[in-house]
Amino acid sequence: MKKYTLITGASRGIGKAFAEALAQKGKDLILVARSEKELEEMASHLLKKYSVDVKVFKQDLSHTYSAEELFEKTKDLKIETLINNAGFGVTDDFSKNDVLELEKMLVLNIVTLTKLSRLYLEQLKDNQGTLINVSSRAAFQPIPYMAAYAASKSYVLHLSEALHEELKESGVYVMALCPGATETDFWEVAHMDPRKIKFEIQSPTFVVESALSALEKKPSFIIPGFKNNATAFATRLLPRDLVTKISRKLIGR
Ligand SMILES: NC(=O)c1ccc[n+]([C@@H]2O[C@H](COP(=O)([O-])OP(=O)(O)OC[C@H]3O[C@@H](n4cnc5c(N)ncnc54)[C@H](OP(=O)(O)O)[C@@H]3O)[C@@H](O)[C@H]2O)c1
Repeated sequence: MKKYTLITGASRGIGKAFAEALAQKGKDLILVARSEKELEEMASHLLKKYSVDVKVFKQDLSHTYSAEELFEKTKDLKIETLINNAGFGVTDDFSKNDVLELEKMLVLNIVTLTKLSRLYLEQLKDNQGTLINVSSRAAFQPIPYMAAYAASKSYVLHLSEALHEELKESGVYVMALCPGATETDFWEVAHMDPRKIKFEIQSPTFVVESALSALEKKPSFIIPGFKNNATAFATRLLPRDLVTKISRKLIGR
């Protein structure tokens, strides 16, 4: 029976770059997002170029029971790698944030990611598989004006680090991928201009290559890029209130 890599948020950005890189390695894929047309186009491109099997599932993952719905749709397929990548950011003044948008973000970034990790775990164990949860460089400190988003990514980092340790003996490898600013539609969706963020901007391909090249060493988390690593480390050495003040300056507010 074929073994698949399931990627959420595979219609564009980092998820799409994962799909391309893994198809190139001959992996059969399950692509999930809301944009069915983009997923279908990606599937036929990957089939033509790499002769891999690609299944597509249209699924909104921002509802409370989205994870169960997706799990049910894929129940006849064997999953050896799960990449929880789908996510978005609500930004700007917290007092202006729409509560429904906040809820959708927290369900997608936290609830669905956690439930999918749990629901597919038996399959990952059966296949000595891999779980990659896409967190963010934003996970390493509080960020004013991205407050709930950054906090949601801290949750993803902590969950993944704990599972990395807890699942070691089971043969399942867990990685939190913590990219810094990456050139994708994330910024447009978040109504932000990435050029105002005082950090280097990386390509989705670089982020994915960094994650895939770390698979052999099996770290609990990776931060692509030297500068992003150095600044994340610095947050551990400075007083917490100062770190929060600096992160406010760095996002230009
Ligand atoms: N770009 C950055 O600077 C950056 C930095 C650190 C971490 N990240 C994280 O990286 C991950 C990927 O983001 P990206 O930068 O590649 O952004 P992106 O280009 O906007 O892609 C987001 C992906 O998530 C999917 N998605 C969004 N809402 C969804 C929903 N309700 N249900 C199902 N799928 C949904 C989108 O597909 P549909 O719209 O078709 O559903 C799309 O495929 C996110 O978790 C993000 O937080 C990004």
